[in-house]
Amino acid sequence: MEYSKCWLDYRPLESVEEVWLTLIVSCDGLIIESAVKEYVLAMEGMAGRKPTVTADEAAAGVRLLVDESIVSGTDGYHIIGEDGGYKIIGQSPSGVLYGVFHFLRMAANGELSQLPVENVPAMPLRMMNHWDNMDGSIERGYSGESFFYKDYEILWDERLEHYTRMMASIGINGIVINNVNVHEKETYLITDTYLQKVKQYADLFQRYGIKLYTSVNFAAPMELAGFDNCDPLEPQVAEWWKETTAHVYEVIPEFGGYLVKADSEGRPGPFTYGRTHADGANMLARALAPHGGIVIWRCFVYNCGQDWRDKKTDRARAAYDNFIHLDGCFDENVVLQIKNGPMDFQVREPVSPLFGALKKTNMILEVQIAQEYTGQQIDLCYLPPMWREILDFDTYAEGKGSTVSNIVRGAAYGQKFCGMAAVINTGNDKNWTGTDLAAANTYGYGRLAMEPAMSCETIAKEWTDLTLGAKVEKDVVDMLMKSWPTYEKYTSPLGIGWMVTPHYHYGPDIDGYEYDRWGTYHRADCNGLGVDRTPSGTGYTNQYNEPWRTIYADVEQCPQELLLFFHYIRYDYTLKSGKTLIQHIYDTHFEGVEEVEAMIAVWKSLQNRIAGEVYGRVLERMELQLANAKEWRDRVNTYFYRKSGVKDEKGRTIYE
Ligand code: GCU
Repeated sequence: MEYSKCWLDYRPLESVEEVWLTLIVSCDGLIIESAVKEYVLAMEGMAGRKPTVTADEAAAGVRLLVDESIVSGTDGYHIIGEDGGYKIIGQSPSGVLYGVFHFLRMAANGELSQLPVENVPAMPLRMMNHWDNMDGSIERGYSGESFFYKDYEILWDERLEHYTRMMASIGINGIVINNVNVHEKETYLITDTYLQKVKQYADLFQRYGIKLYTSVNFAAPMELAGFDNCDPLEPQVAEWWKETTAHVYEVIPEFGGYLVKADSEGRPGPFTYGRTHADGANMLARALAPHGGIVIWRCFVYNCGQDWRDKKTDRARAAYDNFIHLDGCFDENVVLQIKNGPMDFQVREPVSPLFGALKKTNMILEVQIAQEYTGQQIDLCYLPPMWREILDFDTYAEGKGSTVSNIVRGAAYGQKFCGMAAVINTGNDKNWTGTDLAAANTYGYGRLAMEPAMSCETIAKEWTDLTLGAKVEKDVVDMLMKSWPTYEKYTSPLGIGWMVTPHYHYGPDIDGYEYDRWGTYHRADCNGLGVDRTPSGTGYTNQYNEPWRTIYADVEQCPQELLLFFHYIRYDYTLKSGKTLIQHIYDTHFEGVEEVEAMIAVWKSLQNRIAGEVYGRVLERMELQLANAKEWRDRVNTYFYRKSGVKDEKGRTIYE
């Protein structure tokens, strides 16, 4: 099977240090074996020769060792240059593996002169969530079919090993192998129907320091064992989960735990029985606890049967309203997984207020690498800058400095189970991610979960150098860095979100969701648009700590990029830039298209420096992106021209 190696494509280097070709291994175990294998593979590619692997500590070379006291955190590592050779010292075998990947990256990019390196993975949990279904489809997948499943069978081929290596190389330590929407067959993943095959995956992951998790169906006792209810306080239901879970651990002792989407978008959950999310989560947590497992419970819970006429119900409020009163009620091994924003992975949203509000609860920040609302891996949209903004957001939960990053790394409240999870963007396409450039998001996510303070530009450079080569670094990095602002410009303005084709979520349909039941309205009329979420509107702003509560509620202080999320604004309102709102909408939509045109010109200039297939594949996508951007521009501009009657002051073409 053919597939691209992405950032693990070790190409021959111009100069190689002789010492690289001796690997001294002073530790052992499965994960160390993987570290050695990675090293050997990389050297074969970069140096064209197999390195000698020895246990002889007197030899000169690159030495791998484990020293638990070396760094102050789990799975950290040091890389040092010493006595004409190098030492990669891990706090654990996983630390050695991460250190080896880091060393290889530096060797490939000619950065070893920057040693020493000292690193501790910032987030305890660095998870990937696959939304793969067992029929082979992927919910919100834009790069082919699943490489885990086909026709309700579990697949097994060498591609899985390459995938696992890629995940470990960016520091991932937990993988959920199935969609949060658990359908009929997937409910059986935790039973003997599939467990032996799931174990094969778990064993492979384990060799790379990764734990396997499954999404579970809260109603499994009903679907699998004929129960007439799945009330979490019903002792027989709890007992069923205990037995089922014990069996999972019998087969897979290293099993990570369960991910649960309950009482959300039609999925079953504790609400049916008048129970709380804490009742539901704790019941599962108690089944997992004896085995060291965790339950990850999603907070994406809202009323998806809303009436558009009702202006008081606000979907943005839902996660907070549903979970805030449960703070402190969850067992130790429960983690709440919270989407980055209060709505649903829009191109721009404020940070979920839950991060600054729950203080006695383990939390995971959920982001979406899959570009459901950000161009579906056709349009270029490099997302790490968005994630950095979220991580850097100061919630003021415990005064200044209570950033989301500090909270999800466990530094703010000392939680043990916390971190980041991402809906991954991979599929069985030859290049894994639709457009090849979308792999920068996959890569960037892992790097940020390891090192949230890393600059997104540095991440983009690393990825570009490893994947496409240093000779195109400047242009590609520039393209990546501009792409999110560009995408934002030609799609929905100033944080209002949506305006997408319903359900499919690619391309514009301004009123597509406006009169629907999903709670995603822009409320445009002839005078203006936006949702009043201040205390005189839905009151959502009150879910934030000060000073945000005041800042967001005040039109003058509210950050411009979120203005329409928080306020209803008239078209003739003058923004900080001196432009009226309507002129801002027109200008950004024209600019967005121009920026896509400029990006395509840059890509075309790289033709001779980018290997044929990648060049053509990306160009093809970019041309689709341009058509998409034009459609957005014209529909949005025409829509608001028709509503407002205000002409573009620059006289550009806006269709009537
Ligand atoms: C979005 C997405 C769904 C997904 C859901 C979730 O609504 O469109 O496909 O199931 O998020 O996160 O659970």
